[in-house]
Amino acid sequence: MTIKPVRKAIFPVAGLGTRFLPATKAMPKEMLTVVDKPLIQYAVEEALEAGIEQIIFVTGRGKGALEDHFDISFELETTMRARGKSLSVIENIRQQPGSPVYVRQQEPLGLGHAVWCARDIVGDEPFAVLLPDELMVGTPNFMAQMVQAYDNVGGNVIGALEVAPEETDKYGIISPGARDGALTEVTALVEKPAKGSAPSNLMIPGRYILQPEVMKILDAKEKGAGGEIQLTDAMAKLIGQQPFHGFTFNGERFDCGDKTGFVTANLALAMARADIGPAVRSFAEARLV
Ligand code: G1P
Repeated sequence: MTIKPVRKAIFPVAGLGTRFLPATKAMPKEMLTVVDKPLIQYAVEEALEAGIEQIIFVTGRGKGALEDHFDISFELETTMRARGKSLSVIENIRQQPGSPVYVRQQEPLGLGHAVWCARDIVGDEPFAVLLPDELMVGTPNFMAQMVQAYDNVGGNVIGALEVAPEETDKYGIISPGARDGALTEVTALVEKPAKGSAPSNLMIPGRYILQPEVMKILDAKEKGAGGEIQLTDAMAKLIGQQPFHGFTFNGERFDCGDKTGFVTANLALAMARADIGPAVRSFAEARLV
């Protein structure tokens, strides 16, 4: 079996962000910042560092700020240049002309549907999916570690992280088979199992490397949990037909789709910074006594 390299990554960014209102009324939730960088930029940088070449955004109405963020800001750059300011903090965000690629989802029909909207751009190649709500911190980063594992085993490799048993109803959950280091065989998958019925506490944390055949399964537009077209259900149908592994990331995960995760990410990343870390830490220490 030849293992085709992963060159493309899909970023589903059409979600409405209702959990973060009012912040996300007029601003895409992917533009929420952790310290001084929007969530989407963390995810795009993770993919680029992992060797991904083509960035694909599955977007929707009201998400124009995302396109502007990865473009040239003419006024800003001209003014900064005239004032002799360094442009390094914004220059490295820009992509090559023609990239990223943007496709529209039109209607919020589920994560499986969002991924399927990129089928023509993906074509007959393996691809990655990164959910920008999930901020991952580690060296090498999560996707880079996953690509390395995929280059050995091929097939489908998805993130697999343990969560508290009472949280399993919020996520896609893996039925684990044999474990070999960071890789665990996946024997079944279930999206948001009812409380008490989860096959394990191994959840899917929004990082995927998938084979293009999943798009053909998504063609059927079958609805699953919550009446949505679920990526988890389509992936489950590949088990037994293609290699399928969970990958346990050696690093830290912040679920920034959740307020506690978002605030915690800000605190952790601020404390880790050389410039503002000491001040933030001493404030936190003083507050905690
Ligand atoms: C989605 C996926 C779920 C995954 C989760 C990770 O759910 O459907 O399988 O575990 O992302 O954040 P959502 O958070 O969109 O409900």
